[in-house]
Amino acid sequence: MRDQAQSLRELARAAARAARRARVVTVTSGKGGVGKTNLSVNLGISLVRCGLRVVVVDADLGLGNVDIVLGIDPVRSLSDLLYGGCSVEDVLEPAPGGLKILSGGSGVYELASLTEAELQHLVHHIEQLDSLFDVMLLDTGAGIGPNVTSFALASDEVVVVTTTDPTSLADAYAVIKWISARRPDVSLNVAVNMAPDFREGEATFRRLDSAAKRFLGVKTNLLGVVPRDEAVVQAVKRQEPFVLASPNVAASRAVDAMARRLAGVPQPEATGFGGLIRRLLRLER
Ligand SMILES: Nc1ncnc2c1ncn2[C@@H]1O[C@H](COP(=O)(O)OP(=O)(O)OP(=O)(O)O)[C@@H](O)[C@H]1O
Ligand SMILES: [Mg+2]
Repeated sequence: MRDQAQSLRELARAAARAARRARVVTVTSGKGGVGKTNLSVNLGISLVRCGLRVVVVDADLGLGNVDIVLGIDPVRSLSDLLYGGCSVEDVLEPAPGGLKILSGGSGVYELASLTEAELQHLVHHIEQLDSLFDVMLLDTGAGIGPNVTSFALASDEVVVVTTTDPTSLADAYAVIKWISARRPDVSLNVAVNMAPDFREGEATFRRLDSAAKRFLGVKTNLLGVVPRDEAVVQAVKRQEPFVLASPNVAASRAVDAMARRLAGVPQPEATGFGGLIRRLLRLER
């Protein structure tokens, strides 16, 4: 009897541990400059307002500007976790809106050349993040390159950002094609940014979704349409996240709605941070 009760307790604990794994969401795009970094940061802050613990990872190799959008100056990066003897808490930078930031820095390159022992050490540390966060948002660069797409391939969920511009749409389709051919199980969300209005944004999504369905056999979800908003441009200039600087403008309300949608969707089984790193390395080796 006692043994059975104990096994049940262990099972419950294991289930709780599994449920605690963070969702890993990669924000990417085909074309550059469509608003990935701004959406990652502001969506992150809105998710914090939904009661979630969020870390934004600047995974845009060498070009990331999560820090600029937030007006912060991170002192440590993933490299300090890999080689600097730092703990996970040490490399997390507090940011406005209750966000935490992890700068990838050159550590993202170094991942590929780690020894097995270094890798185990890293996975051990990274897994601690699962108890600290509910969501990890990875801000990546644009396009189909091994460095960008390996994050998307290693995640549970992807947000492909596009504008209503036909070239941006065509490039978003190419990214969806690339990812879905390699990870048919990944959850594909689309965010249409800088839309002249909601109808046009939604029409852009419908074009993308029907092409994806027809030619690739994959379903995408509309995460949201964010209008082109002068408040965003002004907030970027002031290095303030727009959802904090101008919470009531159309773009902020749209991002809040996206966060509520993302927080509310039934999530695929989260693999957590350790799973992300393991998948990344399997892809790169
Ligand atoms: N909703 C919006 N309304 C108006 N301007 C916007 C909006 N979203 C983004 N922008 C403008 O687009 C610029 C680029 O945004 P951001 O840096 O987030 O793009 P990105 O996709 O991360 O670029 P990169 O591909 O270089 O990483 C911002 O500096 C801002 O001026
Ligand atoms: Mg960017």
